[in-house]
Amino acid sequence: MNLVVLTGAGISAESGLATFRDLGGIWSQVRLEEVATPEAFAADPARVQGFYNARRAQLFRVAPNPAHLALARLDALWTRGDFLLVTQNVDDLHERAGARRLLHMHGELRRARCLACGEDHPWLEDIAPHSACPGCGAAGRLRPHVVWFGEMPLHMARIQEALAGCDLFVSIGTSGRVWPAAGFVAELRGRARTLEINLEPSEGASLFDETRHGPASRLVPAWVEEMLTA
Ligand code: OAD
Repeated sequence: MNLVVLTGAGISAESGLATFRDLGGIWSQVRLEEVATPEAFAADPARVQGFYNARRAQLFRVAPNPAHLALARLDALWTRGDFLLVTQNVDDLHERAGARRLLHMHGELRRARCLACGEDHPWLEDIAPHSACPGCGAAGRLRPHVVWFGEMPLHMARIQEALAGCDLFVSIGTSGRVWPAAGFVAELRGRARTLEINLEPSEGASLFDETRHGPASRLVPAWVEEMLTA
């Protein structure tokens, strides 16, 4: 049985990272048009870098929760077919929990991309106005390696290939409001079994074969246990 697991901000909520669209979420505090578009970066790079620098710094103060750890355990122990974890999250809590077969479709806070050479590199600190690219050495050309609205998500060919061959698709902690991830469940209708695990019904909840609603830290370990003992 081939598995594809999609995660969103809800899986990291219990680690202390804010979600986007819940009450008090990130997009109720800042306008996404001011920090999460190429136009915003062109207009006010310092503001955009400041937003992502603060979120990157926050990663030093949080740790994976039982939901991240359970998915890493599934990744390590699933031998009855393929496994792929696709996350919309830019935090690194899945890899810190030990996940190996993982793709970050919206990029990674702990990487910086150079606008001069196009390469991305590990980056744990703030990106400063004159930070130099570790690859080509160009100064002042680094941007966060995150996907902004209006840009293409990453790894889509590999994700589509995994979706095409999957038997079970599980969506965890995502509101189903951002495309293309929001469209995966409809795409799989009639071809794979689908399960939503989320605090509350998401936008597309009715499209899933099964839904389980409650906190990820409780529901994800329980689901993983079921999968490993079935
Ligand atoms: P959202 O903030 O839109 O949705 C988070 C979902 O997680 C909501 O449906 C919550 O009900 C649920 N949730 C909250 N706490 C939870 C918990 N403890 N356990 C389980 N579920 C919980 O976040 P995403 O769907 O990830 O993109 O947002 C998708 C994209 O929109 C993000 O990757 C980001 C954002 O704009 C970019 O920045 C490109």
